[in-house]
Formats: sequence, structure tokens, C-alpha cells
Amino acid sequence: MHHLSSIADLSAENIRAIFSKADELKAMSATELNTRLQHRILANLFFEPSTRTRLSFESAAKQLGMHVLTMNEHQSSRVKGETYLDTLITLQAVGAEIFVIRSKDEKICNELAIQMSRLHPNTHIINGGGGTLNHPTQGLLDVYTMLQHHSDLESAKIVIVGDIKHSRVARSTCQCLNALGITNISLVAPQHLLPEASEFTTSKQGTDLDTALENADIVMALRIQKERMLDGEIPDNDSYHQRYGINSQRLEKTCPQALVMHPGPMNRGVEISSELADSQRSLISAQVNNGLFIRMALFDLLLNKQ
Ligand code: CP
Repeated sequence: MHHLSSIADLSAENIRAIFSKADELKAMSATELNTRLQHRILANLFFEPSTRTRLSFESAAKQLGMHVLTMNEHQSSRVKGETYLDTLITLQAVGAEIFVIRSKDEKICNELAIQMSRLHPNTHIINGGGGTLNHPTQGLLDVYTMLQHHSDLESAKIVIVGDIKHSRVARSTCQCLNALGITNISLVAPQHLLPEASEFTTSKQGTDLDTALENADIVMALRIQKERMLDGEIPDNDSYHQRYGINSQRLEKTCPQALVMHPGPMNRGVEISSELADSQRSLISAQVNNGLFIRMALFDLLLNKQ
């Protein structure tokens, strides 16, 4: 592993090594963490909005003693026509060794990884979310969280409900589960928000949430990604909640105490009720906290090779 564009870049062994490193870092004191990557430099390049991914990478880097460069695209020389590649080359020249990139362009991360491997082979690129296809660190943190809270994930029934068609989270989380041999996954959405049949070949797909929820162990709700839809495709909030929103009453069909997840940002009262999001069975804050250690683990594995 030199870059991370997609979960498809990782073997099951790589994924387990990242989880094991995250466990190791979780057990360390702040002082021990702070000396691991002292003065190494991360460039956080977010060309799409983000709260948890951007700040989680930033916090992970700072807790390991790193410095963080953050670029606001609209106040940068990107507006004068500088390419993404020239931006990375420039930041490498001021010391950046690792780049986290979020973009609506699905291909840019992989293309930059290929170019930077040729020009500056000691640099690393991590995809912080690319279009609708890849969000590898979210996939890793979701599965790491599931493994922490479910003792037999291989036999668990996992339901993912929401805007699957536009969800890089659904794609990366399913790829990560599949890489570890976990395939009992049901994807539920209104018909027009289901993906092509050729995608997610190991998962079941359907439009009936109540049937899918029967005996489910883990239910993950996803946001409707209005920003990636045409006007006619956007469902009305109330009718969407009636058919596809999760709440405590609806979860009576699942296994007792089924776990609830959401990658965030969430729309309370649309894909998930507030009382369920804030309940004891919700892993939403655990997902965010685990994201910090997954990202620290990646920095440590990529930069701390001695
Ligand atoms: N889950 C996630 O990617 O959230 P942000 O868009 O806030 O980073």
C-alpha cells in the first residue's frame, strides 16, 4: 500500500493490518502518539464540502505531531488555472509528503497518484471521498466499528438504506465488508435510487424496507444526496421518512438491540429519527471517533516505516 484511492487497492491482509494499527494507536497515550510523526506534513485538499472527514484527518495528523496545510481552492491559484497536479507538485516542494484529496471527480485521485508516483515517489495520496464511487476511509471506519460492536459479523445481516445510487459510502463499505468475506448485505432504496444491477453483485437489492429489516443485526441509514440529483429525483422529506426513514418503531422487526449507523452528515427526521440517532443503540459517534484512529493508522503505516 503506497496510496489509497479505493478499497479495491486493499487486500484482506491490508485491511486487518490497518485495524490492528488503529487498535495499537488507541491504546497509546497522547505523549506517545505525539512523537510518532513529528514535523511530517499533510496537505488536506478538499475540493468538496466536508466536516468530519477533513477535520478527522487534520486531528489525526496533529495528534501524531504532524503539521497540516489546508488550501481553500477559491483563494488559491487554482482560480488562475493551476492544475491539480501542479498544485500537488508545489505543495510537495514546500514539504508535504502526504495528500488527502476530496473531489467530485471520481478519477482525479487515482490519476494524481499515478503522476505523483512517477514524479515524487516518496509522496502518498489518500482519497478523502471521490464522486459517487470511493470513500475508502469511511468504508474502513464503518467496518472497524461494526467489528468492535458485533461479535460475529460474518453471520450478521446488514441493511443499508437510503440513496445507494449516489453513495460512495455504500460502495466503499460494501467493498470492505466483501473483502473480509462478509456478504449478507441488503441494500434498500426507492427504485430510482438503487444502483445498476451490475454493481454490488454480492448484495441483495430491494425497495421494501420493512421486509429487509426482519432479523437485521445492523442498519445503516444514508443521506439523500440532493446535490447529485436532478430536481425531479428528489423525494419529499415526509413521504421519504414514511417509507424509508428509520425510527425505533420500525426497528421492532430487527434483532433485539440491532445496531444503528450513519456515516453523516444526517438529516434528522428524514432518513433517521432524532430519538434513534441519539439512542443507546446508535454507533454514529463511535463511527466518527473510530475514523480518527483509522486515519492515524493510515498515516502511521504510510509514513512511519522504520
Ligand atoms: N461522512 C463524511 O464523509 O462526512 P463529511 O462529508 O462531513 O466529511
